[in-house]
Amino acid sequence: MKKASITIDKAFRIADVDKRIYGSFIEHLGRAVYDGIYQPGNPLSDEEGFRKDVIGLVKDLDVPIIRYPGGNFVSSFVWEDSVGPVEQRPKRLELAWRSLETNEIGINEFSRWARKAGSDVMMAINLGTRGIADACNLLEYCNHPSGTKYSDLRISHGVREPHNIKVWCLGNEMDGPWQLGHKTMEEYGRLAEETARAMKIIDPSIELVSCGSSNLEMPTFPQWEATTLEHTYDYVDYVSMHNYYGNKANDTADYLAVSDDMDTFIRSVISTCDFVKAKKRSRKTLNLSFDEWNVWFHSNEADDDLMKNHPWQIAPPLLEDIYTFEDALVVGLLMITLLKHSDRVRMACLAQLINVIAPVMTQKGGGKAWKQTIYYPFQLTSRYGRGTILQPIIQTPCHDTAEHENVTDVESVIAWNQEKEELTIFAVNRNIGEELELTTDVRGFEGYQLAEHVVLESSDMKAANSAGGEAVTPQQVPRSSVTDGMVVSLLKPATWNMIRLKK
Ligand code: AHR
Repeated sequence: MKKASITIDKAFRIADVDKRIYGSFIEHLGRAVYDGIYQPGNPLSDEEGFRKDVIGLVKDLDVPIIRYPGGNFVSSFVWEDSVGPVEQRPKRLELAWRSLETNEIGINEFSRWARKAGSDVMMAINLGTRGIADACNLLEYCNHPSGTKYSDLRISHGVREPHNIKVWCLGNEMDGPWQLGHKTMEEYGRLAEETARAMKIIDPSIELVSCGSSNLEMPTFPQWEATTLEHTYDYVDYVSMHNYYGNKANDTADYLAVSDDMDTFIRSVISTCDFVKAKKRSRKTLNLSFDEWNVWFHSNEADDDLMKNHPWQIAPPLLEDIYTFEDALVVGLLMITLLKHSDRVRMACLAQLINVIAPVMTQKGGGKAWKQTIYYPFQLTSRYGRGTILQPIIQTPCHDTAEHENVTDVESVIAWNQEKEELTIFAVNRNIGEELELTTDVRGFEGYQLAEHVVLESSDMKAANSAGGEAVTPQQVPRSSVTDGMVVSLLKPATWNMIRLKK
């Protein structure tokens, strides 16, 4: 049998992870808001029309922050339409997704929902079709206590206490030609700089995210970051990253290597931030907010047809990817990659949360919410990947795939929760044909014993969950043992593994 080994030590510290790395995203898109979090009249909904079962599933994911209200949606969002008496709110053509926006749910309702789900809001502002004044007005509406035009407007809408939203995204994917109000790097850099300056005058306690590239393949990457950050560097706290992955070539081995692409992307953005830092002789180090990441490809064709041929519907079923077992492996791998960079990736958002490329699904017309395959690696990593993240020193066989060279069989990261005295080894065997014996040296952690070895595995890479039942769920397996500080584990081919030790 093939062998691999890992050495871990308390000294191999990457970072104390910011819990906001387990963030997510809800956009006014498809059935995320209407029919997702909000279904008035459904017996499963509360007095405000929010689905209680959905809130329960989101709470189990332990999502500390949720980006809102978009996404591409935000670039033509008129926030004033979404507040005040619901019956007076206008219906609008929603241009990003060619849908009809009723504005029944707006900033105040969403903030209430987020509180119920145990999450903070990360607010994105419209820097596509709008600008500095609108951003300032929205910030005043949300965060200023009282005694001004917009704070008093909020109070007149029945919201006495300010929302105190701490994280604000300066637009969305402004480098993308598909974005309404898409800008050149110079145009965006200047606008974002001036908006950031004004917003920090209103509330110096907020954190701001400058728009990075929409993905690694953008022709303007990484010049976009270099140029825009020259303008925004001194005023912002993060640069955003977005990337989606998919198995379009239907090649599982190659698909499991996409986390290497995420790793390359993160390293490149870190280098670019540090280039700007050096150029500016700045003492400040900029962090990364990977605020859109996930698998997204299953629904592409259906979405194109729906938007082109059946536009202007309320809550059309857009971006409803049904995820497979291999997608769950990829989500587990992407989370390992984010954690390996948790010294610089301080925030990240699984995009998205409900119905739209989501771990949680609701059914049209009734029935309980259900969990997609990707729900599980996210849930378990979010639950146990807290505390100090440690860099494992890994010896592993490698393999080549169609598009990737030297792909490590074992991908891994370690979380040490000092408070709970727990050590969690996250490990994926990316070799789809061969099992591995993994030996982990934990002699630096005296007295830690095996608590459980949990796997996600399936003989069918395309196995999917549905409202009718779950084909992919985590299982406890007797595949690890600990002797004299050495953990020996069997990693079956193409499996996500979580080996937990406790003192
Ligand atoms: O998450 C779906 C879309 O992907 C978002 O609206 C956009 O920001 C990205 O292109």
